[in-house]
Amino acid sequence: DEYRRQAEDTHAPAYLRLRRAIRTSVERGALGPGHALPSERELARQLELSRVTVRKALAGLVEDGVLTQRHGAGTFVAERIVKPLSKLTSFTGDLRARGLNPRSVFMEREIGEVTPEEAMALNLSPGALVVRLYRLRYGSDEPLAVERSAIPQDIVNDPEMIEDSLYEVLEKLGCRPVRALQRLRAVNFNAEQARLLDVPEGSAGLALERRTFIANGRLVEYTRSWYRGDAYDFVAELQGEP
Ligand code: GLP
Repeated sequence: DEYRRQAEDTHAPAYLRLRRAIRTSVERGALGPGHALPSERELARQLELSRVTVRKALAGLVEDGVLTQRHGAGTFVAERIVKPLSKLTSFTGDLRARGLNPRSVFMEREIGEVTPEEAMALNLSPGALVVRLYRLRYGSDEPLAVERSAIPQDIVNDPEMIEDSLYEVLEKLGCRPVRALQRLRAVNFNAEQARLLDVPEGSAGLALERRTFIANGRLVEYTRSWYRGDAYDFVAELQGEP
C-alpha cells in the first residue's frame, strides 16, 4: 500500500519509489524485525513492476542495512542492526532508518579542558576547551552502545544544546560532518560497560574510534564508542585492486 501511495505522488524511478516505500514501512514499524518479504517474483507481480526493478530496490535496501537476504530463504527485515562501514551516519540516523526509537541517557555532559589524548585526536592545544559527552545509547529501550565524545567548545558552545543527536546539532550549526577516520577493534566489556549495557562482564563488543571533519577540514568530534557485539553487524563493500 505504501508503494501505491508513493507511486502516485512522485516522478522518481520505480525502483527508488519502491526502495523508499519499503524503508518507510520499516521506519513506521509496519514491517518489523525478522519480517519475511514476498519473493522477488511475487512482489513484481503484486506491484506490476519488472523483476529488475524489484531486485534493484531490494539490493539498495540490503546495502543500507534495512533488509538482509539469506540464500534460499529469502529477504527479511534486518534483526541485527546492520551498519554500513563506508557511510558517515549517526547513531540516531541508523536507528531511525530501522524503525527503532533512539534514546540517550547522559552520564556526563559538560565543558572541560582537553585531556592530552583528546588534544592529540582533535588537533587542539593544551588548555583548549571541549564539550564532553558520555552517553548510554538505546534503541527502542534496549541499551546498544556506550559513547564518549569530545567536541571543540568553539563549535558547540553550550553542551545543553545536545539533547538527542549530536550530528543534528552540528548540522544546525552549519558544521555538517563530511568525512571521518574510523578504527574498529574487538573488545571484551569491562564491568562498567557491561553493567550499563546489561550484558555479562567480559562479553564481546566492538570499540569504534571516530575522528570527524567538516567541509573546511576542521575536526569536530573525537568519539569512542562501544557497541554490543550481539546486536550489530558492520558491513562494507570491497573493491578489488585494479
Ligand atoms: C555514531 C558514531 C559516533 C557519533 C554518533 C552521532 O555512533 N560512532 O562517532 O558521534 O554516531 O550520533 P548522534 O547524532 O545520534 O548523536
